[in-house]
Amino acid sequence: MDLDALYEEALKAAQFAYAPYSHFRVGAALLAEDGSLHTGANVENRSYGLTVCAERSAVFSAVSKGSRRFTALAIAAPDSDYPVGPCGACRQVLSEFMDEGAPVYFGGKDGRRVSATIGGLLPFDSLHDLARREE
Ligand code: THU
Repeated sequence: MDLDALYEEALKAAQFAYAPYSHFRVGAALLAEDGSLHTGANVENRSYGLTVCAERSAVFSAVSKGSRRFTALAIAAPDSDYPVGPCGACRQVLSEFMDEGAPVYFGGKDGRRVSATIGGLLPFDSLHDLARREE
């Protein structure tokens, strides 16, 4: 599956966002090494700090179903004027399950798409070697 097709899956996932507070929907689509596709949407809470981003929803859903290595991620933010990359917390979680060269592809409603990598988004990844040793 190419990155544009993965992006379309992220956009579809964004429709399931539960975002009554921010009205800012986000969808994420992860391609697993085993070929499976996993999506997630942001899930907000009236206790704002409990909100979970689309990216972490996708990761936790995938890992809960047995997929642990991901080769690509797409993020769609259809309510944003510009492409939205993963937040800092999500970068840390994603780096647990993706190689540093894995592509991260993201966009907003203006049609622009940004291509990055997990390593580029999270340089000097904290405790990177520790995660590998524990596998
Ligand atoms: N959000 C995500 O789901 N992913 C991101 O990459 C950025 C932010 C969500 C969290 C919150 O529900 C809303 O977008 C506004 O921050």
